[in-house]
Amino acid sequence: MTWLITGGAGYIGAHVVRAMAQAGERTVVYDDLSSGVAERVPAEVPLVRGSVLDADLVARTLAEHEISGVVHLAAKKQVGESVERPLHYYRENVEGLRVLLEAVTAAEIPSFLFSSSAAVYGMPDVDLVTEETPCRPLSPYGETKLAGEWLVRATGRTSGMSTASLRYFNVAGAAGPELADTGVFNLIPMVFEKLTEGAPPRIFGDDYPTPDGTCVRDYIHVVDLAEAHVTVARALASSPGTDLTLNIGRGEGVSVREMIDRINAVTGYDRAPTVTPRRPGDPARVVAAATRIATELGWQAKYDVQDMITSAWEGWVRHHPAAARS
Ligand SMILES: NC(=O)c1ccc[n+]([C@@H]2O[C@H](COP(=O)([O-])OP(=O)(O)OC[C@H]3O[C@@H](n4cnc5c(N)ncnc54)[C@H](O)[C@@H]3O)[C@@H](O)[C@H]2O)c1
Repeated sequence: MTWLITGGAGYIGAHVVRAMAQAGERTVVYDDLSSGVAERVPAEVPLVRGSVLDADLVARTLAEHEISGVVHLAAKKQVGESVERPLHYYRENVEGLRVLLEAVTAAEIPSFLFSSSAAVYGMPDVDLVTEETPCRPLSPYGETKLAGEWLVRATGRTSGMSTASLRYFNVAGAAGPELADTGVFNLIPMVFEKLTEGAPPRIFGDDYPTPDGTCVRDYIHVVDLAEAHVTVARALASSPGTDLTLNIGRGEGVSVREMIDRINAVTGYDRAPTVTPRRPGDPARVVAAATRIATELGWQAKYDVQDMITSAWEGWVRHHPAAARS
């Protein structure tokens, strides 16, 4: 099979491309390089540069490369920016998906895997979030992911295409320093940035109803996440008519304070954090029940938080050599 990986020049997409290759699957990357990096795409993998909003180029790419399945990661992903620019987010993430699905169904491609997010849940009031927990996204970004899931499922139902929406929890780490996430949108790079600047890492609120008062999240290594894509892609290809919605997490909550302590230990910095007021909209605890994918498809995460911090730090130091401590 040949899989089209939209967003394959991005942080997660580049890991999916490698995991697919290791599993013996052929891939073609489709990316407009708006936040992706061409050098992340292996030399032997074709890279088509264009937007998923370009219906003609998408249709030509599907035909020319004889694509038989699609993994759709291309999207805008910054929660804060989505609040400022909702129309842009709906256009890129929802209209882009609609255009892609139109071409995919016209070409009768049988398998479609969609990158969703734990952002669809919003502020869940349960200890472990299952796929049945009500979805109440808090940002336009989360809304576009939920609308995307609806669009994918509805299209699958009418076309007979097998579909899956994967709800990623907090993605971290890298398969190698050259594949590290270069954006500073998540806790780990935000802490690295502060340490590199010689400033204390920040905790936004320590009065949450959690054991140490700081927010609790579920972190998943990007290499595990990429392998989950291979598992799900194969399940779609082998079972026509499949319709899956799956959490991709580890089921283990780690607090912001614990994470900063671990980062201090890995990096050799020993900076006590400062506590600032809560940010609006931060849920106290978001931890996945990761059992459905384990039970239905036998996938389980292998890497722990230590692996994520260590590999993320190697990538950070490569881009910020002055951050290294001897
Ligand atoms: N990183 C996370 O923690 C996280 C968590 C949950 C969900 N996700 C989702 O995973 C996917 C990948 O995220 P990432 O962290 O790798 O982000 P990223 O920004 O590194 O990758 C996105 C890729 O999509 C490309 N792209 C964006 N708009 C495009 C368009 N219109 N047409 C073609 N290509 C386009 C970008 O150039 C980039 O290469 C996204 O859908 C994101 O919403 C990410």
